[in-house]
Amino acid sequence: MNPDIFLPPQVAWATGALAGGPLIRKTTRLAELPDVFTDGEAWKRGNPQQGVYDVDVLGSPVGEGALFVGVTHLYAGNVGDEFFMTRGHFHARREQGEVYFGLRGVGLLLLQTEAGDARLEQVTAGSVHIIPPFTAHRLINTGTETLSALAVWPSVAGHDYAALAEGFSLRVFASGQGFEVRHG
Ligand code: PA5
Ligand code: NI
Repeated sequence: MNPDIFLPPQVAWATGALAGGPLIRKTTRLAELPDVFTDGEAWKRGNPQQGVYDVDVLGSPVGEGALFVGVTHLYAGNVGDEFFMTRGHFHARREQGEVYFGLRGVGLLLLQTEAGDARLEQVTAGSVHIIPPFTAHRLINTGTETLSALAVWPSVAGHDYAALAEGFSLRVFASGQGFEVRHG
């Protein structure tokens, strides 16, 4: 007789929808992102209830060596000319890395070291992003549809948002049909 075979959770690659497991969703609205966008006046004019991104995380065991799986859905939009983006963070446990996989939409992954060196990787369906240890990360949606990315990270990594209080050293703005990167 065959042993019990369990059905694992599923991700729909085209949309990033997770199913078949306990899901925890966190919605981040414009109101929760003060001081994130360059144009503070444009941020004030925006609808504070507008959802900027949702993160769905599969409920799974926590502990040293355990991994979390989640999908970020970053909506298309702007504050002033600046594209919608995630808050961005270092891991509280700085030595812990993470992997992102682009699923749909187009955007950028902004990576920044503790020394302040920043670089950008293009995110598209199928892109693979290895976020090294000691590296802050932020998603930016430069397109007109939702940018969805799957992430896998150590459950012990934690989030340190405060360390980036002064922000990332690169910012991305709409320019014509594309985007323009500015130091700032
Ligand atoms: O683990 C990650 O890096 C992601 O799941 C992010 O937490 C997610 O994209 C939301 O970004 P932030 O945590 O910076 O608000
Ligand atoms: Ni992270």
